[in-house]
Amino acid sequence: MDAKNTYILKYKGYNFNRSLVVDSDFLENLDDFEIRDDDVFIITYPKSGTIWTQQILSLIYYEEHRNRTELVETVDRSPFLEYNLHKIDYGKRPSPRLFTSHIPYYLAPKGLKNKKAKVIYVYRNPKDVLTSYFHFSHLFSSLRASENMGYFMEKFLDGRVVGSLWFDHVRGWYEHRHDFNILFMMYEEMKKDLRSSVLKICSFLEKELSEEDLDIIVNQATFQNMKTDPQANYDGSVKYELGIKKNEGHFMRKGTVGDWKRNLTVEQNERFDRVFQRKMKDFPLKFIWEIDEEENQCKI
Ligand code: A3P
Repeated sequence: MDAKNTYILKYKGYNFNRSLVVDSDFLENLDDFEIRDDDVFIITYPKSGTIWTQQILSLIYYEEHRNRTELVETVDRSPFLEYNLHKIDYGKRPSPRLFTSHIPYYLAPKGLKNKKAKVIYVYRNPKDVLTSYFHFSHLFSSLRASENMGYFMEKFLDGRVVGSLWFDHVRGWYEHRHDFNILFMMYEEMKKDLRSSVLKICSFLEKELSEEDLDIIVNQATFQNMKTDPQANYDGSVKYELGIKKNEGHFMRKGTVGDWKRNLTVEQNERFDRVFQRKMKDFPLKFIWEIDEEENQCKI
């Protein structure tokens, strides 16, 4: 465990958000964290659609979330494994347990590597991840904001951010996919066709839902509806625990594909492309960099 006074806590080669790690012993023992057969893990690199997938799974698993009879933030329905903000005793949580995590594949508890539980890995085109992350770092007190995109992009491309290097995260999980019971979901596909994406997730989770429930889930998981839903935004946790720099702003910012075009200069984009080609050549997963505005409205 490093002891430096920075917002990043580097542990086993991975950058954690220091202020959110409430129990460093837990990290030391992550490998032995007991996994149950019916656990479900959402795994993402930050800014790739985590909160969106938390909402979808909360809606699938909890009737009281669907019909809004119990207003619980999605971060409590599917808490972060490595950032146990509410100091929940995970061992006492009733099954099936939902978890969320940003950890790289090699830090995953060995029970997950034994294909015991299910993993949903959500990935997004990295130019939009970068753009989302840049704006997010201006919002949260626990992250160091960069004054300009050029500077932030260099940090991102070097992995000097919480979450470490995007390329390693995505490659790592994909190249070790045979060790896990894992479904890969693409943010842009979810955006293009939310209904089919929810069905795909349900099929992986072996969950059968009525048409009526499916309609409710798809409706409550749209960007527009999540933006005005305090539980989906986890507004309370954001305000009181994560620490916010400005009063306005949420996890839900724009929720579009291709916003990088408004945020990167031509030179920055070319530099990004060069690094991307070098790091991702031979990588079989395809990325969607833009979709037309009409599609951006999200088919439901
Ligand atoms: P933008 O900053 O580009 O708007 P994470 O939850 O991993 O931190 O990712 C946050 C990003 O996902 C934000 O992207 C946010 O707007 C987007 N997002 C969250 N819910 C969404 C939804 N229902 N539809 C589309 N995008 C969503």
